[in-house]
Amino acid sequence: MSNKIIIAIDGTSSTGKSTLAKRLAKRLNYLYIDSGAMYRALTFYAIKKNYISKSHFEKNRLIQDLPNILIDFQYNKKNSKYEVHLNNFSVEKHIRSLKVSDLVSQIATIDEFRKEMVKVQHLLGANKGVVMDGRDIGTVVFPNAELKFYLDASLNLRVKRRYKELIDLNHEISLDDVFNNISLRDNQDINRINSPLKKASDSIVIHTDNFTLDELEEKLFSYVTPLILKN
Ligand code: C5P
Repeated sequence: MSNKIIIAIDGTSSTGKSTLAKRLAKRLNYLYIDSGAMYRALTFYAIKKNYISKSHFEKNRLIQDLPNILIDFQYNKKNSKYEVHLNNFSVEKHIRSLKVSDLVSQIATIDEFRKEMVKVQHLLGANKGVVMDGRDIGTVVFPNAELKFYLDASLNLRVKRRYKELIDLNHEISLDDVFNNISLRDNQDINRINSPLKKASDSIVIHTDNFTLDELEEKLFSYVTPLILKN
C-alpha cells in the first residue's frame, strides 16, 4: 500500500526544476504546482495596474489590493493542465515575458505577498500527493515535506537552456537579456530577508549540468520509490 507524500523542489533559476517536477508528478499521478507562476501572476497584475516598472514600485498600493487578488490554479480540459489564474482568468500565456521576469523577484521580496502565496500553497498541499517547485518550498512552505531536492547548475548552462526555451516560445530575446535576468533574479532570491533561496539541511542536492533530463528524472525518481512504499 503506498501513501502520498509531498515533494519539494527548490533551486536557482532554470535548473530544470519545473520540467522535472512535472515529470515526477505525471509518473506518480500527483498534482504539480509551479509556485513561481503565482509570483509571476501577481507581478503581471502589478504591471497592468502600473504599480511597478524598472524605475518605480508602489508597494503599498499592491498591498492594499491584495484582498481583491485571487491567484489559484484551475484545470484546463483542452490541454489537461493546471494553469495559474488571476481573478479567474488564465494568465499562463502572459507571465513568462522578460518584463515579468525582470520584476518578479522584487515583488517576491515582500513578506505580505509571500504570506498570501504560502496560504494558497498550503491549501494545495493539504492532502499531499503534490510536487511543488520554487525557492522556499522545502525551507518555509513545507519544511516537513517527505522529500526535498535542491537543484543547481552552472550559470552558463542555465542561461543557454532558458534562452532556448524562450526562443521556442517565440519570445524576442537575446542571450544577454537572459543572462542579465537570471543573474539578477538569483541575486535577489538568495539575498532577500524573507524566505531567501537556500538549501534545506535535509535536501538532496543535485547538480544537473552533466545529465540528460531522462537521467535526472530517473535519479530523482529513485529517491521517491522507497518513500512511497514506506509511507
Ligand atoms: O520559478 P520561477 O523562475 O518562475 O520563479 C520566478 C520568481 O518567483 C523567482 O525568481 C523568485 O523571485 C520568485 N519565487 C519565489 N518563491 C517561490 C517561487 C518563485 O520567491 N517559491
